Amino acid sequence: MILLTGGLGYIGSHTAVELAEAGYDFVIIDNLSNSKIEVKDKLEQIIGSPIKFYKGDVQNEEILTKIFTENDIDAVIHFAGYKAVGESVAKPIEYYDNNINTTLALLRVMRKFNVKNFVFSSSATVYGRAKSMPIYEDFEVSATNPYGRTKLFIEEILKDAYVADNSLNIALLRYFNPVGAHKSGLIGENPNGIPNNLMPYITRVATGKLDHLNIFGNDYPTKDGTGVRDYIHVCDLALGHVKAVKKLETAPGLVVYNLGTGTGYSVLEMVNAFNEVCGNKVKYEFAPRRPGDIDVCYACPDKAEKELGFKATRNLKDMCESSYNFEINNK
Ligand code: NAD
Ligand code: UFG
Repeated sequence: MILLTGGLGYIGSHTAVELAEAGYDFVIIDNLSNSKIEVKDKLEQIIGSPIKFYKGDVQNEEILTKIFTENDIDAVIHFAGYKAVGESVAKPIEYYDNNINTTLALLRVMRKFNVKNFVFSSSATVYGRAKSMPIYEDFEVSATNPYGRTKLFIEEILKDAYVADNSLNIALLRYFNPVGAHKSGLIGENPNGIPNNLMPYITRVATGKLDHLNIFGNDYPTKDGTGVRDYIHVCDLALGHVKAVKKLETAPGLVVYNLGTGTGYSVLEMVNAFNEVCGNKVKYEFAPRRPGDIDVCYACPDKAEKELGFKATRNLKDMCESSYNFEINNK
């Protein structure tokens, strides 16, 4: 049985689907701080059976203890946390508190119940301004904002925990830019308020909820002047977690993987691909660069392919179509 923290969120819910498909049992804890309980019903529709769910905070060791007592947990995938870069600058204490203390609480309860396998949602943000592209796992890490620092600190905490207890198996998964949605259109990315990220902003422009997209910068040293990122379909990313869980079953110790495609697309390429899918509904204007943004970021995905047998297969069209489909379904 696998415990998914934050399993009703964007990446957690898609991972739940892939785990079920691969035959794994799981239980979810989520405090609904950035998700809705309806996601549980949607997941049950997709999977076709009831889901075990605990509403609660991962910082609360009493509820964790209850979960570990009532379920035979042998691995934890830790998605729960706050994730908005801009908000983390305004609310650093909340970010450090939630992201770090959830991890510590889990590690304490895992130790109590002798659970050894832990998958952590890290981020390409830990590479800061990488010295060259593509980005390899052994590149130096750094952070430029409190959110990124929580990821960096948690990686360090997990490395220290592993040094102290070599029987732990820990996968640090550094996600690049997750986009897209499940093909059913039932689950997807549904941020509160005005989206910060590119794809949810595009889908809201396409459906008339927002007037136009501001493209932050057209003077970067890239193919067309706009920022380049490694967008990975969330269902591919979800499959990466299944592969990571399987890897931990072989007791590899602490392992680090990029989860990306290895291909960088510019903002303009994303907009053009999306317009082909939705019929030219995405208006845009060029705006100044967004503070803190980097020009280019894409992964070398070879290590995950070689050691996990993981390779993203869904293309840009799949990413745009599924995002649009989800937005229309959730109008
Ligand atoms: P999300 O906000 O959709 O999901 C996180 C879930 O955790 C939400 O359902 C939220 O209600 C829950 N949660 C938060 N704090 C909690 C707590 N203390 N107790 C219980 N539940 C709690 O985010 P996501 O996009 O699915 O991201 C999942 C993880 O992946 C996060 O750790 C995030 O930092 C990381 N990540 C995300 C991206 C991205 O672009 N989406 C990129 C890199 C890394
Ligand atoms: N962009 C726009 N207009 C928008 C939103 C974004 O032009 O309205 C551009 C950005 O400038 C950037 C690209 O679209 O060039 C992607 O931006 P996102 O905000 O979607 O993603 P980021 O690469 O900035 O950051 C995301 C997550 C971080 C995570 C990082 C790496 O938000 O938390 O990917 O995984 F750390």
